[in-house]
Amino acid sequence: MLVERAYAKLNLTLDVLGRRDDGYHEVDMVMQSIDLSDLVWVGANRSGTGTSSIHISSSSLQMPLDERNLAYVAAEAFLKRIPLQRRGPLAVEIEIEKHIPVAAGMAGGSADAAAVLRGLNRILHTGMSLDELADIGASIGSDVPFCVYNGCAIARGRGEILESVSHECRAWAIVVRPPVFISTPDVYHALQPGDFTTDPLSRAMVELLQQGDFSRILQHITNGMSRAAEALHPEVRAYRERMEATISQPVFMSGSGPTLFTLAPSLRRAQRMVNALRGFIREVYLCRFV
Ligand code: C5P
Repeated sequence: MLVERAYAKLNLTLDVLGRRDDGYHEVDMVMQSIDLSDLVWVGANRSGTGTSSIHISSSSLQMPLDERNLAYVAAEAFLKRIPLQRRGPLAVEIEIEKHIPVAAGMAGGSADAAAVLRGLNRILHTGMSLDELADIGASIGSDVPFCVYNGCAIARGRGEILESVSHECRAWAIVVRPPVFISTPDVYHALQPGDFTTDPLSRAMVELLQQGDFSRILQHITNGMSRAAEALHPEVRAYRERMEATISQPVFMSGSGPTLFTLAPSLRRAQRMVNALRGFIREVYLCRFV
């Protein structure tokens, strides 16, 4: 078996441009990997039964271990790309040591799926490029291609069209997972025309990241899904406002929520905020940009 690290992501901007004919939404967002990560162990042995099989085990009791798990879908999609004559029937074994909060807007499931693609590519010596793995990833979920590469990128389309961004900003992220369950399709469905924009902020955010202008980065974080998520789940708004009052700085939602976060330029400031927030929220994570 070999191991791949699956990083969580935050959205530093998330602009929704509009609804598409295929049911998805056109988005424009800055995605940033953070060092909160799962460990994904991948093994592949010749199957004794003559047919391929995929088996998942996990330290988390919160996610299904069958074909509803994106890691399973990823393994299936990967095997389909390699001719059976070449690989023979395989028993694929996947173990997920879960640290990223489940169903939280941090792409935890997508990150595991991307780690399975990278892991199978290595263990089977398939020699696919990251671009080819991202192409398979796009068929699994909108966030999977980003998770194949990690780092920082502007994501467009439904999230699968990526423009890689390099910057040196290594801000600390204070990440909170409120105990609220949010369905991504429900939030997309609740968007109203006023939530859409024709003027995305990704380009400006990338420039600020490249300049390392911390206070302006904080001022420019946006999420076009926040209003709809907070309208559907007023608890998210209550948590956000209580956090802002506690640490005296703005707090933002990542993805379709419920994860809330803010940034700090130094470990000392970040730790002070984490300590204050632990007073009323159990799940608080101190992370750093990857
Ligand atoms: O691509 P993924 O499977 O993660 O998307 C889950 C759901 O979220 C989609 O079925 C769709 O309802 C919604 N979605 C969307 N626009 C996007 C991404 C996701 O409407 N850009």
